[in-house]
Amino acid sequence: MDFAVPAAVSDALCKRLAHPVFGYTFRSDEFIQAILNWLADRFDWQVARSHLLFYPPGTVAAINCLVNLFSEVGDEVIVHTPAYPPLMNIVKQNQRVLVESPLVRNDRTYQIDFDQFEKCFTKRTKILILCSPHNPSGRVWRRDELEKIAGICRQNNVLVISDEVHADLTLPGIKHCHFNRLAEESRPPSVTLISSCKTFNLAALPQSTLICDSPALKKKIKWAINTAQLNLDNALSATASLAAYQSGHQWLDSLNAYLKRNRDYLEGFLKQHLPQIQLAKAQGTYLAWLDFRALNIEHQELARLLVEKAGVGLYDGLMFGPPGEGFFRINLACSMSLLSKAMKNIKAALNEKA
Ligand SMILES: Cc1ncc(COP(=O)(O)O)c(C=O)c1O
Repeated sequence: MDFAVPAAVSDALCKRLAHPVFGYTFRSDEFIQAILNWLADRFDWQVARSHLLFYPPGTVAAINCLVNLFSEVGDEVIVHTPAYPPLMNIVKQNQRVLVESPLVRNDRTYQIDFDQFEKCFTKRTKILILCSPHNPSGRVWRRDELEKIAGICRQNNVLVISDEVHADLTLPGIKHCHFNRLAEESRPPSVTLISSCKTFNLAALPQSTLICDSPALKKKIKWAINTAQLNLDNALSATASLAAYQSGHQWLDSLNAYLKRNRDYLEGFLKQHLPQIQLAKAQGTYLAWLDFRALNIEHQELARLLVEKAGVGLYDGLMFGPPGEGFFRINLACSMSLLSKAMKNIKAALNEKA
């Protein structure tokens, strides 16, 4: 995001930096309480303290750890595509087999193709990495969709790793449902990962919180965390996240309202000026997934045009797997004037081409 972090976060960091000792740090009780309060206040979800685990290097690092812990080389891991690229890379780089379950697009809305999804499972399937809310489409999965996923994974005894770093970024009126919130008896073993990094623009001060209620899973994860000495915390990440979770409610509400205005602006602009470009219907994230296919311009040529003619660096859809051909992802977490400039440049570049 382009936005400055909440003032309470900068203040807390300045105060921590003024204390000139940076010895080993552990996750404080105050932090644990702040997370529990956050989940209770914003999601009405009471989580037991004993279900929390912390992974200081961040969410992608945590997912990498979980994939290694709970599958073997050659095992299959399912990911819905288009997919946030690191989720696919983790599977491939660890020599697991990536099984793609392509989402289907109906009336600009992405949905899980449950018939295809069910057929993805074999005896070697060990894990589903779920992205919820979904990057890049911005879909916030409904509870009934999550329950269906849970039922299928439970039937196949497949662990669900649910990457929920976008959970706080929902359009006003939309409520995210955490996977581990589903009734325990209706879901497979699962780990939900949340983070303050996307929510409060703290990605370079990483940390991730894991929510897990299975004693067997927790035991293994704790072993991995302790073996790598990851029970030690990063003093600045911990300080920033604590301040954000304690004092960031209003800031986040304003952010979500601003993101909605930017999304509405983009939708209006496309309708009026570039009706061939279709914006995926989203309920969350600051990402907008744009379908350029109706323009009938070859993907690489389009990528070149956007950068060289429009001067706009969108995230290339092909990075998200084969269903990303003809798509580009735009980041809405910027000022509306910058977004407007980008869209006007894109319009001019496409008009020139036509
Ligand atoms: C779905 C998703 N997961 C994880 C991350 C990164 O999380 P972290 O920086 O904590 O590894 C991102 C960042 O864009 C993301 O979109």
